[in-house]
Amino acid sequence: MVSIIFKLPDGKSLAVKAKQGMTLLEVAWENHIKIEGVCGGAMACSTCHLIICPGWADKLPKISDEESEMLDLTWGRLNTSRLACQIRVTDELNGMVVLVPVEQKNLLDY
Ligand code: FES
Repeated sequence: MVSIIFKLPDGKSLAVKAKQGMTLLEVAWENHIKIEGVCGGAMACSTCHLIICPGWADKLPKISDEESEMLDLTWGRLNTSRLACQIRVTDELNGMVVLVPVEQKNLLDY
Protein backbone atom coordinates (compact mmCIF):
# COMPACT_ATOMS: atom_id res chain seq x y z
CA MET A 1 0.00 0.00 0.00
CA VAL A 2 1.10 3.53 -0.80
CA SER A 3 0.31 6.68 1.17
CA ILE A 4 -1.16 9.61 -0.77
CA ILE A 5 -1.93 12.95 0.86
CA PHE A 6 -4.79 14.98 -0.57
CA LYS A 7 -4.93 18.69 0.29
CA LEU A 8 -8.58 19.66 0.06
CA PRO A 9 -10.17 22.96 -1.02
CA ASP A 10 -11.35 23.59 2.55
CA GLY A 11 -7.73 23.63 3.78
CA LYS A 12 -7.78 20.19 5.38
CA SER A 13 -5.38 17.39 4.45
CA LEU A 14 -6.28 13.74 4.23
CA ALA A 15 -3.70 10.94 4.10
CA VAL A 16 -5.06 7.76 2.55
CA LYS A 17 -3.69 4.33 1.64
CA ALA A 18 -3.84 3.28 -1.99
CA LYS A 19 -3.17 0.03 -3.82
CA GLN A 20 -0.60 0.03 -6.58
CA GLY A 21 -2.24 0.26 -9.99
CA MET A 22 -5.25 2.31 -8.90
CA THR A 23 -5.72 5.71 -10.47
CA LEU A 24 -5.71 8.78 -8.26
CA LEU A 25 -9.35 9.28 -9.21
CA GLU A 26 -10.21 5.78 -7.96
CA VAL A 27 -8.24 6.41 -4.78
CA ALA A 28 -10.09 9.67 -4.17
CA TRP A 29 -13.51 8.16 -4.76
CA GLU A 30 -12.74 5.13 -2.59
CA ASN A 31 -11.93 7.52 0.24
CA HIS A 32 -14.95 9.80 -0.30
CA ILE A 33 -12.78 12.67 -1.53
CA LYS A 34 -14.88 14.80 -3.84
CA ILE A 35 -13.29 15.01 -7.26
CA GLU A 36 -15.46 15.32 -10.32
CA GLY A 37 -14.96 12.71 -13.03
CA VAL A 38 -17.73 13.13 -15.54
CA CYS A 39 -16.34 10.78 -18.19
CA GLY A 40 -15.45 8.06 -15.69
CA GLY A 41 -11.75 8.08 -16.53
CA ALA A 42 -11.92 8.04 -20.32
CA MET A 43 -9.84 11.26 -20.59
CA ALA A 44 -12.73 13.00 -22.29
CA CYS A 45 -13.77 15.68 -19.80
CA SER A 46 -10.85 17.15 -17.76
CA THR A 47 -13.07 17.53 -14.70
CA CYS A 48 -10.72 15.35 -12.62
CA HIS A 49 -8.06 18.06 -12.58
CA LEU A 50 -5.51 17.77 -9.74
CA ILE A 51 -2.33 19.68 -8.99
CA ILE A 52 0.70 17.62 -8.07
CA CYS A 53 2.87 19.29 -5.43
CA PRO A 54 6.35 20.30 -6.58
CA GLY A 55 8.92 17.58 -6.13
CA TRP A 56 6.44 14.83 -6.94
CA ALA A 57 5.51 15.80 -10.47
CA ASP A 58 8.86 14.55 -11.80
CA LYS A 59 8.14 11.07 -10.45
CA LEU A 60 5.06 10.73 -12.62
CA PRO A 61 5.01 9.36 -16.16
CA LYS A 62 5.44 12.08 -18.75
CA ILE A 63 2.18 13.76 -19.67
CA SER A 64 0.75 12.71 -23.03
CA ASP A 65 -0.30 15.19 -25.69
CA GLU A 66 -3.90 14.07 -25.23
CA GLU A 67 -3.83 14.65 -21.47
CA SER A 68 -2.20 18.05 -21.94
CA GLU A 69 -4.85 19.07 -24.47
CA MET A 70 -7.62 18.09 -22.05
CA LEU A 71 -5.94 20.06 -19.25
CA ASP A 72 -5.93 23.12 -21.48
CA LEU A 73 -9.71 23.11 -21.03
CA THR A 74 -9.51 23.44 -17.24
CA TRP A 75 -9.58 26.62 -15.25
CA GLY A 76 -6.41 27.32 -13.27
CA ARG A 77 -4.03 24.92 -14.99
CA LEU A 78 -0.51 24.96 -13.50
CA ASN A 79 2.75 23.36 -14.63
CA THR A 80 2.10 20.37 -12.40
CA SER A 81 -1.58 19.93 -13.24
CA ARG A 82 -2.62 16.39 -14.16
CA LEU A 83 -5.78 14.41 -14.70
CA ALA A 84 -6.47 12.19 -11.69
CA CYS A 85 -7.80 9.43 -13.92
CA GLN A 86 -4.49 9.18 -15.78
CA ILE A 87 -2.13 8.76 -12.83
CA ARG A 88 -1.63 5.25 -11.53
CA VAL A 89 -0.27 4.63 -8.06
CA THR A 90 3.20 3.11 -7.87
CA ASP A 91 5.55 2.44 -4.95
CA GLU A 92 7.60 5.45 -6.02
CA LEU A 93 4.66 7.73 -5.21
CA ASN A 94 4.55 6.80 -1.53
CA GLY A 95 3.98 10.04 0.40
CA MET A 96 2.98 12.08 -2.63
CA VAL A 97 1.03 15.26 -1.93
CA VAL A 98 -1.70 16.37 -4.34
CA LEU A 99 -3.81 19.48 -4.23
CA VAL A 100 -7.51 19.28 -5.03
CA PRO A 101 -8.09 22.60 -6.87
CA VAL A 102 -10.68 25.04 -5.68
CA GLU A 103 -12.59 24.46 -8.92
CA GLN A 104 -13.59 21.09 -7.49
CA LYS A 105 -15.16 23.01 -4.63
CA ASN A 106 -17.23 24.90 -7.15
CA LEU A 107 -18.25 21.75 -9.02
CA LEU A 108 -19.04 19.74 -5.92
CA ASP A 109 -20.43 20.86 -2.62
CA TYR A 110 -17.45 21.06 -0.24
S1 FES B 1 -12.52 11.67 -15.43
FE1 FES B 1 -12.77 12.61 -17.35
S2 FES B 1 -10.75 13.13 -17.91
FE2 FES B 1 -10.51 12.20 -15.98
